Amino acid sequence: MKVGVAICTCGGTLNIDFDEVREFAEGMADRVEVFDFLCKNPNLEGFRDFDGIVFACCSERSSLNFNENAMHKTAKSYGIRFWENANIREQCAWIHDRKTATDKAKDLIAMAIEKLKLSKFYNSFEPLKRVLVIGGGVAGISCAKSLAELGIDVTLVEEKPYLGGHVCQIPFLWQGEGYPSMCTSECVIPVVNRELMLSNARILTSSRVLDVEKVDGNFRVKIETEPKYVDPERCVGCGRCSEVCPIEVPNPFNFGMTKRKAIDKDFRLAMPDVYNIVEGCNKCGECLKVCPTNAINMDAKAEVFEEDFGAIVIATGFETNREVLKKYRYDHPKVMTLLEFERMIANNLFGEVPMSVVFVLCQKDEVGYCSRLCCPVTVKQVNRLKMIRPETEVTVIYKSLRTYGRAFEAFRRIAIKRGVEFVQTDVEGIEEREDYLVVKTKDGEFEADYVVLAEPLIPSSLKLFKRLGLKLDDFGFPLEFQPRVVNPGESYVDRIFLASKGFKDVQESVESGRAIALKVYEALKGKEMKYYSVTNLEKCSRCGLCYAICPHDAIKLEEVFRIDPAFCKGCGLCYATCPSRAITLVNLEDEQILRMADVAFKNNEGPRILAFLCYWCSYAAGDLMGYYGLKLPPFRSVRVRCSASLNPDVVEKILAENKADYVLIAGCPPKNCHHIWGNYIQDRRIRLLNALGEKRVRFEYVGVAMWNKLAKIIENAHNEVKGT
Ligand code: FES
Repeated sequence: MKVGVAICTCGGTLNIDFDEVREFAEGMADRVEVFDFLCKNPNLEGFRDFDGIVFACCSERSSLNFNENAMHKTAKSYGIRFWENANIREQCAWIHDRKTATDKAKDLIAMAIEKLKLSKFYNSFEPLKRVLVIGGGVAGISCAKSLAELGIDVTLVEEKPYLGGHVCQIPFLWQGEGYPSMCTSECVIPVVNRELMLSNARILTSSRVLDVEKVDGNFRVKIETEPKYVDPERCVGCGRCSEVCPIEVPNPFNFGMTKRKAIDKDFRLAMPDVYNIVEGCNKCGECLKVCPTNAINMDAKAEVFEEDFGAIVIATGFETNREVLKKYRYDHPKVMTLLEFERMIANNLFGEVPMSVVFVLCQKDEVGYCSRLCCPVTVKQVNRLKMIRPETEVTVIYKSLRTYGRAFEAFRRIAIKRGVEFVQTDVEGIEEREDYLVVKTKDGEFEADYVVLAEPLIPSSLKLFKRLGLKLDDFGFPLEFQPRVVNPGESYVDRIFLASKGFKDVQESVESGRAIALKVYEALKGKEMKYYSVTNLEKCSRCGLCYAICPHDAIKLEEVFRIDPAFCKGCGLCYATCPSRAITLVNLEDEQILRMADVAFKNNEGPRILAFLCYWCSYAAGDLMGYYGLKLPPFRSVRVRCSASLNPDVVEKILAENKADYVLIAGCPPKNCHHIWGNYIQDRRIRLLNALGEKRVRFEYVGVAMWNKLAKIIENAHNEVKGT
């Protein structure tokens, strides 16, 4: 392998003897060059078409100017196949004196060269440029429309016969920003839907996803479309069929409070503008006689088909936890949810003038989290109710009212001015008395013609989430890939995006859908992978441990457990877990780590502390020790993909063969591992080693901001070794 070393002096600011380092590197590499500002002027002509290069400069993790992406692009642009980084700034020159830093720089370069020499093919993958959006609410619609406008082939699947989701059922939408104002969904929904219909997106209503399988890096999706009794290509929405239809059935759009015909639309503005036939139709054929376009076919059958997509967007929204409502007489026809009351308001309370309506907000920690929308929806609804029925007595019973933001708090104040009573107390039960209801509370009783319950919301589509291999939190919400603050909407499975995670209002949902479209667009460009795992099919014993431990659903059972590199995030959890040693973490193999350990302390005096710092958190903490000017005794560090990607066998070998005096492994803090459970797994493995008598190894949780803790751990390790 033809190897070069590009050393950067960081404009001469690093307190390192570069002549000495250069001379040392020349003994190991085919070409060495020293630069003043590698980041500003990376002229690597002298290394063109080399097999590999070591960038001995600032940290690939934390450099503000020359990080791993920049290093990768730079190497690639000069036709250099492989690259490694020797971090001679943050974890070297900035934390040690000149002699220690010079010695360490030499060792770091030697370690990088050893690792580089065993480099293998960097994998790459380009997904199909086709996207499936599951869910036709406003988030799904916005996402599909934006993708279509970006020129992406997008298909939207919606279970209902119309687009728009719950928003269609809400007559008045608040406008979340600024002074409270409302907008009617009857204005917004046709506009939003129409834009989607006019885009190039393919819309499949009355359709559902039956199954999803990962095939060759893409998603093979089985979709079922309900029988098209009314051909959408022919139906002109004239409604003559509905006029002559003799059958009436409860309309689910109004929660059964109104009827529709067996052939009808759920509501007048439903898009697509196509009539549909529901259960209850007796196939009398009256509609067939009047349809001017022969659009009706009573013999239509459901269709099931499979298609491949490169990415999936989940926009399936929420549903109500009805179990919780049972405690509050939800079986009574005059006890209803907020969404059901929306339909009452939409139908002008069916002409009724109730004496009193009591709204009951959540009472206990019923689902374990705040559904976020109930309090704002309640203050909106009581205002609306007071506007159309000023004479109705309106009471809101709450334990804790969370009208977040400017608009909702303003709604609450206006409601008080309109005479709405807000009472903070505990509800003990709801009883029926004669022809009215009584809400019994700790502080008295409240009579009501209607009781409206704030419904605890839960994520819908749990089964779908599981089928997609998503990891869920304790409440059933799909987990987002870490760091969530910069990866919102990315799930743990590559190219599955979450447009409707959590509960959002309409405006937020539209924003989220659009933002996800951009993420999908970026993901469809494909990726290059320096680190990824592969299975040696002959060694695999089919134990399935890798499958169970993979946080990214990248492994599936064929004749053996096989890793799909397109979904692999290179965390190495499977590799370090495999009892048959059948898995290799490419470009961070045991052999590479052992060779690095072999040369790590050639120029070191005193205790030999070898630190394996996880890719995301702990290595960054190591860099911050330099940024914040700490001074430390010498140690050597290796950046590992996750703390759990380091096999304990390798640690034992390093210690048994006296390659180091002490091994420190640090991972992300609890609940912060970027591969969900890697830090916990490694903690347990190392505790087991400790319990078996190996005291020269230690695991620590070290987050980025815990650089001080890391420094202390390194100092303690030093003292411990010195004291023995
Ligand atoms: Fe830091 Fe797993 S990524 S411990």
